[in-house]
Amino acid sequence: MVALVTGASRGIGKVIALELASLGYDLALVARDAAALAEVIAALPESCGNAVAIPADLAQEETYESVVGECVAQLGGLDVLVNCAGLSQAGPFEDVTPEQWDRIFAVNAKAPFFISRAALPYLKESEKPIVINIASVVGFKGYIHQSAYASSKHALTGFTKVFAKEVQPFGIRVHLISPGGVATEMVKQMRPDIQPDELIQPEEIAEIVRFLVTKKGQGTIDQFYIRRYTGLAFD
Ligand SMILES: NC(=O)c1ccc[n+]([C@@H]2O[C@H](COP(=O)([O-])OP(=O)(O)OC[C@H]3O[C@@H](n4cnc5c(N)ncnc54)[C@H](OP(=O)(O)O)[C@@H]3O)[C@@H](O)[C@H]2O)c1
Repeated sequence: MVALVTGASRGIGKVIALELASLGYDLALVARDAAALAEVIAALPESCGNAVAIPADLAQEETYESVVGECVAQLGGLDVLVNCAGLSQAGPFEDVTPEQWDRIFAVNAKAPFFISRAALPYLKESEKPIVINIASVVGFKGYIHQSAYASSKHALTGFTKVFAKEVQPFGIRVHLISPGGVATEMVKQMRPDIQPDELIQPEEIAEIVRFLVTKKGQGTIDQFYIRRYTGLAFD
């Protein structure tokens, strides 16, 4: 089984890659930082199948087809797609430039949309096809000074809901994971007000991915909304 993980050079995507490697998946790892991807591959457990790095800037739309094409050319197919790459923004609404807004939308919303489209023919051929989109709690709510980021995550959330319905006839399961603050580089920039020991650990998101890809039976789960334990319940 082959999994393609975007944003695999660090943070949540890296830990998801390690988790899928422990389950024996062949891995295609996508991010811009080729050296960091090589380090992740070097750290993969022996249980992992083949692993390839596919360096790409997902703000560039020509990469959407090419990352999937390269994954299939090198690993022979695609069974699990994890759209995890993301770009944050912190600051007042009036400081956001059109260029910044475009870049955030390209990486957070456009890339998952068109990578999913490019992956569709291969997912249709898979015995257990799964797409997991990593959005955010700000795909539901609004945090001050995250206007462009929250807009892009609302877009990803909306796409995921429609995509899940359109591909259900092909047996493709689509899952949305919407985390609150997770202990990565990104959160240091966006939420310096949150104490590090109050943050969700990336491994907790990877646990959800493990659950989803190993789940058997007739039940399925459309979305996980996971918040910090120190935050407010049902908020
Ligand atoms: N941390 C949180 O609190 C939190 C909460 C909710 C949701 N999320 C979401 O979780 C996902 C992972 O975030 P994280 O916290 O792990 O952040 P992170 O540590 O900053 O990692 C972001 C990942 O995305 C990749 N990426 C960014 N821009 C890219 C581009 N133009 N092309 C290709 N790859 C790109 C980065 O790789 P390169 O720099 O090597 O390209 C890196 O692998 C994101 O979608 C984020 O929005 C995070």
